[in-house]
Amino acid sequence: MNADGRTRLNQRPEWAALAKHREGLADTHLRELFAADPGRGEGYTLRVGDLYIDYSKHLVTDETLRLLRELAAATDVFALRDAMFRGEKINVTENRAVLHTALRAPRDAVIEVDGENVVPKVHAVLDKMSDFADRVRSGAWTGHTGKRIKNVINVGIGGSDLGPAMAYEVLRSFTDRELTVRFVSNVDGADLHEATRDLDPAETLFVIASKTFTTIETITNATSARSWLLDALGGGDSAVAKHFVALSTNTEKVAEFGIDTANMFEFWDWVGGRYSYDSAIGLSLMIAIGPDRFREMLDGFRLVDDHFRTAPAEANVPLLLGLLGIWYDNFHDAQSHAVLPYSHYLSRFTAYLQQLDMESNGKYVARDGKQVDWQTGPVVWGTPGTNGQHAYYQLIHQGTKLIPADFIGFAEPVAELSAGLKAQHDLLMANFFAQTQALAFGKTAEEVRAEGVAEELVPHKTFQGNRPTTTILAKELTPSVLGQLVALYEHKVFVQGAVWNIDSFDQWGVELGKVLAKRVEPALTEGAEVPGLDASTKALVAKYRELRAR
Ligand code: F6P
Repeated sequence: MNADGRTRLNQRPEWAALAKHREGLADTHLRELFAADPGRGEGYTLRVGDLYIDYSKHLVTDETLRLLRELAAATDVFALRDAMFRGEKINVTENRAVLHTALRAPRDAVIEVDGENVVPKVHAVLDKMSDFADRVRSGAWTGHTGKRIKNVINVGIGGSDLGPAMAYEVLRSFTDRELTVRFVSNVDGADLHEATRDLDPAETLFVIASKTFTTIETITNATSARSWLLDALGGGDSAVAKHFVALSTNTEKVAEFGIDTANMFEFWDWVGGRYSYDSAIGLSLMIAIGPDRFREMLDGFRLVDDHFRTAPAEANVPLLLGLLGIWYDNFHDAQSHAVLPYSHYLSRFTAYLQQLDMESNGKYVARDGKQVDWQTGPVVWGTPGTNGQHAYYQLIHQGTKLIPADFIGFAEPVAELSAGLKAQHDLLMANFFAQTQALAFGKTAEEVRAEGVAEELVPHKTFQGNRPTTTILAKELTPSVLGQLVALYEHKVFVQGAVWNIDSFDQWGVELGKVLAKRVEPALTEGAEVPGLDASTKALVAKYRELRAR
């Protein structure tokens, strides 16, 4: 029994039933499952919005799915979901509501936190963002010298960078191509240097994105950006007012930094950093794609929110994807999960999901404060196909590790491409379909022999198959489809955290490194004696100082 009165996850009968079922399926191959059920390719599919989800190539039967749903029922996944949507403080270690879903709620919705309806505030900020984005896009908002803004630089890190940076790449073909939009996150000065070196400060707007407005990387980069601007333009506070806006929950710190709070776009502590790019944190994206496209993206998020909230368990896609992950993580010892988009525009998508998933579910302590003795969040990784095929897919096909993977693809190439480049799309997608086929069904030794392969090479050229994949297919990559995809993964991560009984909305694990960096810095800059520095780090710091040319 847990301290919170819940039965420990791995002591539940539903858990034992799954473990037993897993043993029974140990020798089952996807080839057999497909042979036994000719309708599997169409039967094991679901739809949500514009997304067609094929889960037929998973190592599951109807019974597996039933048992997984029973585990979800026993762990009250839907009750926690409802509490989240209602605005209850389900982020227990920070005593906060978790309401990214309110960011895409319709104007007339009522969602209360501490007795206050938050929806009017959400829409007031969206309207303020829209007005500002329109003024930048039209040229009505000018810089200190009266020049039109041509460059937008988002300065932020983690959730204040990855979301808008990812979405900007995804929706590039919807952006105003006259604008240069860049994202600076790393405290390595090279990042800001490369982002600004070819820009005219008089035409550049900095969007300083930080929920807390205390994150050292962001404040350091923002301070350097201000110097870069003022060194070129002068003008003090009035120049800053024309070239700096802030996205934050912390009005006091924004003012302290010297940004006019009239130029601040607010969000709230019930929006987690990694769940925030559809809040004010999306301002640079909104400037790039325009308010209408941004709202279409929010509609996409909302569509999947509504589905997650109302679809029955058997048809609930985030529930299904979350449970499939649990099946592999907890019952097949899978350690990682690959997300492999077959779209160049999704080049940052998996990097975005890494924070969403790993910062949410990378926890070894359960909600009751006790250590878990079951696996929690997987390592999430991947890059767009077909590039990965020529790099690491070898290990997915013939390595010793089970790597469940999501393949995401689109029927249509992006509209902007020339006819010639559009023609390449079928080849891209032929690879997409071929990979999941090869992973599932492999190639038997008999098939290899039948090709006349020399006997000593047969084992090398044989593919076991039985590598599970989900295929997510949509007609085209639009702002709405992006919103749908992100919400799908947000809720999948939610489902898993709920089953594992962890708080998916805190991130205490990143704090220690931050504290230690602050402590070590004087040793690097001044050679100061740092009390309590371990022998290894002490020697490394000494070496660094010796090598560092000042
Ligand atoms: O260090 C982790 C983290 O707190 C993330 O959760 C967050 O997205 C990021 O830092 C940036 O934080 P902020 O938006 O407050 O600058």
